Amino acid sequence: MDEVRTVGVCGAGLMGNGIAQTCAAAGFRVVLMEVAPEPLQRGIASITKSLDKFVEKGKLARPERDATLERITPTTAVADLAGCNLVIEAIVENVEVKAKLFAQLDELLAPAAIICSNTSSLCIVELAAKTKRPNRVAGLHFFNPVPIMKLVEVVKTIATSQDVIDALFAFAEKLGKEPVLAQDTPGFIVNRLLIPYLLYAIRCYEGGLASKEDIDKGMKLGCGYPMGPLELLDFVGLDTTYYIAQIMYDEFKDPMMAAPPLLKRMVLAGRYGRKNGKGFYDYE
Ligand code: 3HC
Repeated sequence: MDEVRTVGVCGAGLMGNGIAQTCAAAGFRVVLMEVAPEPLQRGIASITKSLDKFVEKGKLARPERDATLERITPTTAVADLAGCNLVIEAIVENVEVKAKLFAQLDELLAPAAIICSNTSSLCIVELAAKTKRPNRVAGLHFFNPVPIMKLVEVVKTIATSQDVIDALFAFAEKLGKEPVLAQDTPGFIVNRLLIPYLLYAIRCYEGGLASKEDIDKGMKLGCGYPMGPLELLDFVGLDTTYYIAQIMYDEFKDPMMAAPPLLKRMVLAGRYGRKNGKGFYDYE
């Protein structure tokens, strides 16, 4: 397997821009692709803000910040990904939209290139089946905020070849991350455990166990978690959590993975968390 040189990132949203930044900071050339100029510009602005934060804290020298930005080529044309030997897809969590992109990438990329999805819950082999290289398709799941969180889940489907997994482990290590190997089941390792915990915290809150502040304080000070569960739900996004829970419940039929009524209602009311200013807490 060729070493990864140029990384393509599809999607410049929260995860995509974090992945692009992390790859560029590690010295890779990155092609960052979005469907339209506005989300692309927002993604680049978010990368710039994050790099500036590292400079401010004295963790990154200014020339290195500039070099990181220079290594990122923003584009709205899928064709510009042609020279990449690893593409990481981080677009909308919709299986049809992702499948279409995987088929397109398969046509475009060199036969040895690896295609990964950063999905948190969709079935990777279903995306692999849209390509003529299912052995070169895997999951590469990052955590928010990507430049800070150390973990990467490398997801092996029943079709992924071992040399691809080895290459992805080596790649994750070059990013300064700690890779773990997970099987292609919804939620992989982290969300398989995290989502039922978050959903149960909502059940406790809607059942009147305690105030949201005390639930969060309990888990932060009692267990040393950096964020309480309701705070973390706002951070991850209530819409995202609802969506992941539905996929996991659909697959496992485990009541622990069923979305509580309050979560559904908050999402229907447009309370998505930090991203739009209102969730369990108010950010406006
Ligand atoms: N870019 C650069 N620096 C950043 C940053 C970013 N995007 N986000 C945070 N930081 C830095 C801050 O500048 C700060 O630096 P310092 O230690 O040098 O002062 C440091 O990170 C800590 O940030 P803050 O002081 O602002 O706040 P906290 O101490 O609360 O840390 C946090 C923020 C790192 C987000 C911490 O609260 C945390 O770890 N929370 C839990 C996050 C988590 O669980 N993520 C996983 C979610 S699940 C997921 O992503 C999977 C998906 O599929 C659902």
